[in-house]
Amino acid sequence: MNVLDGRKVANDLLDNLKNEVATLQSQSISPKLVVILVGNNPASLSYIKQKRKACEKTGILWEQINYEESVTNEELIEKIHELNKRNDIHGILVQLPLPDHIFAPDVIKAIDPKKDVDGFTAYNIGKMFLSTDFEDLPPCTPAGIIKMLDYYDIDVAGMDATIVGASNIVGKPLSTMLLNRGATPTTCHIRTKDLKAHTAQADLVCVAVGKRNLITADMVKENVILVDVGCNKDENGKLCGDADFKNIAKKARYITPVPGGVGPMTVACLMENTVKAAKKLHSS
Ligand code: GUN
Repeated sequence: MNVLDGRKVANDLLDNLKNEVATLQSQSISPKLVVILVGNNPASLSYIKQKRKACEKTGILWEQINYEESVTNEELIEKIHELNKRNDIHGILVQLPLPDHIFAPDVIKAIDPKKDVDGFTAYNIGKMFLSTDFEDLPPCTPAGIIKMLDYYDIDVAGMDATIVGASNIVGKPLSTMLLNRGATPTTCHIRTKDLKAHTAQADLVCVAVGKRNLITADMVKENVILVDVGCNKDENGKLCGDADFKNIAKKARYITPVPGGVGPMTVACLMENTVKAAKKLHSS
């Protein structure tokens, strides 16, 4: 079977983290994550539900702070400063997207990098840029992808990797993390002239755009490894990725499904970062 089972890999990781959390609790350290939600975007509500479930599974404490859409930058930043100071909190996550009137970079900048379990602050992004040794609190989706590839003994060193999508959350950090591991990444985006020319020559294609059927079987080579980060709905309202799974699976060496691929890995890595942050905060 060439389907990479993100659910299984994530559950294994969560089981290990559960033991680690129990050990920390026996030392009076109770890892805790705070999630800030603004408004009630349905996708955000669904992501948060999965994060909360993973906390329950691992024993990580959970606190959710909800704001109306009308909240201001200043109110959010003031709350984050307060959370930065609280010793019982180890991870702070601001669910994105934020409403248009909020300047997200300023809000993210307010998070203490030691509690930035999403790995979105300039400090943590910058560390990741240096090398694998400095990937301390890496962004969760790229970290989850790397962890899944590692689990299946897929060594990216020497591979031509095409990343489709250049977001700060996935595409850009994933390119860097693959480069850190010896791959040759190419990052494609909306202005890329000939997408197929880049995907067709790649050993590894990672797609994170949010456009159903963007990657079709004719766009990838035989034995490709395809990682699909997309999260879309098909005509029946069922969750699907950015790639034509059915047809690409016939020629791929490995492929990740949607759902059950990268999504659970992202959540598991968030839990891992929270435990890591708790350990570090208590040792310093
Ligand atoms: N919105 C979509 N993905 C993410 C994520 O990984 N973290 C946060 N904070 N918001 C998101």
